[in-house]
Amino acid sequence: MALTLLIILASVLVLAELVVLAVLLWAAAVNLIFWVPYVQMPEAGLREVLELMRQAGVVADTKVVDLGAGDGQVLAAIERQFGVVGVGYEISPWPWLLAQWRLRRRGMGSRVHFGDFYRIDLSGYNVVFCFLTQPVMAGLEKKFDRELRLGTRMVLYGSYLPNGKPVRVVRADKVQGRLSDIYIYKV
Ligand SMILES: C[S@@+](CC[C@H](N)C(=O)[O-])C[C@H]1O[C@@H](n2cnc3c(N)ncnc32)[C@H](O)[C@@H]1O
Repeated sequence: MALTLLIILASVLVLAELVVLAVLLWAAAVNLIFWVPYVQMPEAGLREVLELMRQAGVVADTKVVDLGAGDGQVLAAIERQFGVVGVGYEISPWPWLLAQWRLRRRGMGSRVHFGDFYRIDLSGYNVVFCFLTQPVMAGLEKKFDRELRLGTRMVLYGSYLPNGKPVRVVRADKVQGRLSDIYIYKV
């Protein structure tokens, strides 16, 4: 009996280790393939993003998507401030799991789906938010050109569209804790 329990316990531990290893390997693979690590936006950056969204006229029925939504903190803040039930996409399992926990625990309607944002159609959204890295922006700009409808705004934290002309740029302010520039575009 004791031996059986010991074997079950050891199997559970090995399984748990394998799951953790798989998550870590997946995260490393995502960083290598997509060139975008999971990094949380600093508080001051998030405040500025919300202010820019307010100025852009975001209201409860605005369709907002966060490409590379991480742990859902941006979607959660947008829902709290404007009542927007937003959608995000995240390819890395650990931040995606955090997002499930964060949004559901707080009873929020916004959802982060597990998957590659290159595979979704962006034509239904009025506001696209991204906190990604510069190497992916050229590919993403082509997707924006193909899919976004007239009037759609893009709020890009920390990277810019190589060929697009921003309607506004908010420069980083390290004193205030805002570490990256924010670029606003309108189709
Ligand atoms: C810098 S983090 C930003 C997280 C979140 N938006 C925030 O501001 O806190 C970028 C996220 O994009 C995700 N990502 C990168 N490429 C992706 C892709 N093609 N599809 C979905 N998620 C992606 C990464 O896994 C990472 O978690």
